[in-house]
Amino acid sequence: MLSVVFFLVLSFPFYSTKTSYAGNNPSGSTMKVSHICLWVTLTFSGLVNAFDPITTTVVVGVGAALGRTIFNYFKETCDPKWIAYNATGLKTDLDNKLFGQHIASRIILKAVNGFMSNPNPKKPLVLSLHGWTGTGKNFVSQLIAESVYAEGMHSRFVHVFTSTLHFPHAEHMATYKSQLQQWVRGNVTNCERSMFIFDEMDKMHPGLIDSIKPYLDYYEKLDGVSYRKSIFIFLSNAGGDGIIQTALEFWKAGKNREEIELKDLETTLSLSVFNNNKSGFFRTSLIDKNLVDFFVPFLPLEYQHVVQCAMAEMKARNLEPNPDVADQVARDLVYFPKSERVFSVKGCKTIESKLDFYT
Ligand SMILES: Nc1ncnc2c1ncn2[C@@H]1O[C@H](COP(=O)(O)OP(=O)(O)OP(=O)(O)O)[C@@H](O)[C@H]1O
Ligand SMILES: [Mg+2]
Repeated sequence: MLSVVFFLVLSFPFYSTKTSYAGNNPSGSTMKVSHICLWVTLTFSGLVNAFDPITTTVVVGVGAALGRTIFNYFKETCDPKWIAYNATGLKTDLDNKLFGQHIASRIILKAVNGFMSNPNPKKPLVLSLHGWTGTGKNFVSQLIAESVYAEGMHSRFVHVFTSTLHFPHAEHMATYKSQLQQWVRGNVTNCERSMFIFDEMDKMHPGLIDSIKPYLDYYEKLDGVSYRKSIFIFLSNAGGDGIIQTALEFWKAGKNREEIELKDLETTLSLSVFNNNKSGFFRTSLIDKNLVDFFVPFLPLEYQHVVQCAMAEMKARNLEPNPDVADQVARDLVYFPKSERVFSVKGCKTIESKLDFYT
């Protein structure tokens, strides 16, 4: 019977939960916990008859303590055991896994290295990633998360907001603003080393992002909470057209893609972000007050990068990378502009499903 008690205690820690943004239904985990409680009560009501009261108390007490210890061991906590920046890991990943993004790669590494090695940053790190679809914006966010959190994107301290999912109705803007503030404040109170990713910024109602402006600013503390060690990442397609234009000009001039520098893109990027009412940043004080530390351009991907993506995907599936298959997949995609066919319309998106046809 002791083994039954032991099994109960051991099985409990694996029912841990991850917090989710308001609107997601947390009832699944609540149900699990209530089921366990009911199960434990019913099982123990039978067990206690088998022991005298003192033995029962000791067994249950020891079991609970042991259970808590094991639970704490497996549960992700806001400390260096779970959150430890791996600078070499990020560099290796950016060098080996991210294709065709020499500018983004350089800025991201510098920005994250600088921020994470500073024990007393004056403000949170705020990055805004811009570019055409399928060029690696979400992918890079994932690499950053993996370099900071042992659990990567699955960490309880990494939070993703998607405009169309979490803030779909313009008429509820006032509610969204206060929910967003509370949500960010609550999560940073829980762990100062939190990461927030705002996806589809270009579909976000202009003004909503201003509601979290104070958290991105140079305050030591706001209502007793310091936001200075958190990371905010905004993702959007805004500015993508300007980046493509520049990349195409370089291509037409016969210049190497790697010759494109940040300064070649900076002006077009900042203009198209601030003056574009479909960027999510339209005339926000976030830009006015220079609270975004880095605007990171993502270049449109070419045929050679699509081949690299296909090879990487085969490797990820434990298949022998086959250059002929990768070539076939890359040839299957559509490229633009129509006459020159230089850039992949969908970047490296859809490679996964295309590979299914050929492997
Ligand atoms: N530059 C890249 N290097 C390596 N893999 C890439 C790159 N770009 C995209 N991929 C692959 O394609 C997938 C889709 O890319 P991702 O979701 O990062 O695109 P995105 O830039 O966020 O696009 P969107 O603007 O449509 O959201 C990634 O999971 C990754 O596997
Ligand atoms: Mg994306």
